[in-house]
Amino acid sequence: MIELSHIEKRFGDNLVLNDISLGFREGSVTALVGPSGGGKSTLLRCINLLEIPTTGRVQVGETALEFAPDVKPAASAIQSLRRQTGMVFQNFQLFPHRTAIENVMESLVVVLRQPKEQARAHAMALLEKVGMAHKADAWPATLSGGQQQRVAIARALAPSPRVLLCDEPTSALDPELAGEVVEVLSQLAREGTTMVIATHDLRLASTTAEEAIFLEAGVVVEKGPARKLFSAPERERTKRFVATLVQSRGEQAGSGI
Ligand SMILES: Nc1ncnc2c1ncn2[C@@H]1O[C@H](COP(=O)(O)OP(=O)(O)O)[C@@H](O)[C@H]1O
Ligand SMILES: [Mg+2]
Repeated sequence: MIELSHIEKRFGDNLVLNDISLGFREGSVTALVGPSGGGKSTLLRCINLLEIPTTGRVQVGETALEFAPDVKPAASAIQSLRRQTGMVFQNFQLFPHRTAIENVMESLVVVLRQPKEQARAHAMALLEKVGMAHKADAWPATLSGGQQQRVAIARALAPSPRVLLCDEPTSALDPELAGEVVEVLSQLAREGTTMVIATHDLRLASTTAEEAIFLEAGVVVEKGPARKLFSAPERERTKRFVATLVQSRGEQAGSGI
């Protein structure tokens, strides 16, 4: 359903994604793991075209775009592909001067031009889904990090995207608040939401993802079933990386937070 073919992304001379070809099935949940600077965020941002690939092809659903150096894709083509994706960021990025429900309604009213009352009803249903209906009229600043992230997930789902892209959705949260976000994302996974989740959070990865990709220095080192990649990886490099994830999880669990 999402198809990346021979994606290269350069920032100046820095080759950040090196010939990435990957497919993501409808209804699948994929964890994207790897060391900092390995290209996880850039890969997610190349799927929704917040970053424009230097070369290669991106297909989401029936919409496909080819990229070549010095060729500027049409803004309308970028928009139509981006509209099929929803993005959840590490630091939530809610609009601070809009209430929780107004954050969720925004794209429905402004982009999809739904009548306000219809948008409000849809937004309320989404807030219920993430357990935040009781805070519909709250300002983001009055919500905990976990609550803000749950509103951000509802906002990303509002235009009914084909895929939810999550960039380290629990990294800014302490373990207890991360837990409530993990719960919401696992529920979405069980309902068949297509997701690609960049994460260092082994609990999140192992409770949501059936597929995993280990990305380092812009290259896919290993990919396969999440269970296998996290418990019995094939590559030596993947083994060492997974060991660091397991260790940091143990430290968190032992920290008593
Ligand atoms: N906007 C940018 N301009 C220049 N370099 C960037 C930009 N975004 C990311 N990079 C570089 O791309 C590489 C991959 O970064 P990133 O995708 O953020 O990795 P990760 O999310 O795995 O930590 C890093 O070397 C980073 O410095
Ligand atoms: Mg990142």
